[in-house]
Amino acid sequence: MLILLQRLSSPAKYVFHTLVAYWKVVAVLAAINIVEIYYHIKDYKITRPSANLDPPFYTGCQTPILNTTARANATMMMLARNSDAGGAVASVKSIQEQFNDNFHYPWVFLNDEHFSGEFMKEVTSAVGGNAEVSFHSISKDMWGFPEWIDQERAQKAMHGMESRKIYNAGKESYHHMCRFQSGFFYDHPALTSYKWYWRVEPDIQLTCAITYDPFVSMDLNNKVYGYTIALWELGKTVPSLFRKLSDYKLRKHIPTTTIWTAMVDPSWAPLPIRRFILPWLRNRDARGNLWNMCHFWSNFEIADMDFFRSREYRELFQLLDQDGGFYYERWGDAPVHSLAAAMLLKAEQLHHFSDVGYVHSSLQYCAYESKRDAFERGRLVPGSKEERGEMLGCNCKCDEGIEIIGSTCFNRIRSTVM
Ligand SMILES: *[C@@H]1O[C@H](CO)[C@@H](O)[C@H](O)[C@H]1NC(C)=O
Ligand SMILES: *[C@@H]1O[C@H](CO)[C@@H](O)[C@H](O)[C@H]1NC(C)=O
Repeated sequence: MLILLQRLSSPAKYVFHTLVAYWKVVAVLAAINIVEIYYHIKDYKITRPSANLDPPFYTGCQTPILNTTARANATMMMLARNSDAGGAVASVKSIQEQFNDNFHYPWVFLNDEHFSGEFMKEVTSAVGGNAEVSFHSISKDMWGFPEWIDQERAQKAMHGMESRKIYNAGKESYHHMCRFQSGFFYDHPALTSYKWYWRVEPDIQLTCAITYDPFVSMDLNNKVYGYTIALWELGKTVPSLFRKLSDYKLRKHIPTTTIWTAMVDPSWAPLPIRRFILPWLRNRDARGNLWNMCHFWSNFEIADMDFFRSREYRELFQLLDQDGGFYYERWGDAPVHSLAAAMLLKAEQLHHFSDVGYVHSSLQYCAYESKRDAFERGRLVPGSKEERGEMLGCNCKCDEGIEIIGSTCFNRIRSTVM
């Protein structure tokens, strides 16, 4: 101790001696801090409900009721480029075989250009005779820089992000696409006559059969937003998104939902640091808490488009659009949809399609339930092989060669409902 003291510079010595002299005051301040931090953290604790508020609609196989007309006010939707024809065909074949050959929901294909004859021919043939197909382009007012964007600044930002290896950030059309999927798809003339939609992307695969009508089940169970995969977003793509949304939430006095809480990691720092230092860092709110990057992978989404058409969602999108982060940063539609749903919906209005195995690019969700003991330890979706119990879906065949998505994010989010 003495040696340490000798090594300290004289101002440090002064501080040290002052602390010793006023140790009672210091101790009281420290105690107050600890109590304050305890209550701050406690605010973000999720109490799991006693019953499962979001079980799968069905487990195992059902006998699909074969009607020739669609039963819900719903459509399948895919945004694709002409060059995506191969991937589009693969996705359509998988969805038709696993689901839609029994349910006959129409397909709407959207493109920012005109679809080529080749694309339309291949895709129509993949759908087969069991569902209607239509092809549409997207008008320039839904796809392109809005007037308030400084295009020079946007180009500079995109090049900067590209050199920092931020995924797809150097491609202008990718930014237009994220903006379209965040704030416009539900107003596209081809979709306005529908309430429900199932978003499908090129190169996806369903690994279980869906033998019930997910739209009807969503409706009957008062669900608004359905997903299969919850995972971490790349923080670099959206550095200021969470701050902007959480500030909006504070300003509008929007009550904190349990899903929002599940997406936030409260900070353990003392109050002054939380208030005055941490908010300057990316992905933090004005109180210094961190968005833990959990979000839903919106490339699979079964949702009520009237949610996106609501005054609340539109207002939120307007705010983000005016801000310009779709171009100056690389905000994806997945974090936008996810944080909006977390802010505006109750946990039980969301549905995890835990019975639907799904593959997209190099990741998959496998429809295993957790073994009992793992479940009791809070492993609500199994992480390791040892934790895997029965398959929840119908005729599931996981793709052995593809990585199964980890369970950390799932466990946070699912703890709000089960
Ligand atoms: C679908 O078929 C079932 C059983 O055949 C029938 O009860 C139901 O009314 C049909 N629904 C529609 C919309 O045709
Ligand atoms: C389908 O939903 C849309 C959007 O909510 C609505 O405008 C339309 O009237 C509905 N159509 C039918 C047939 O219910």
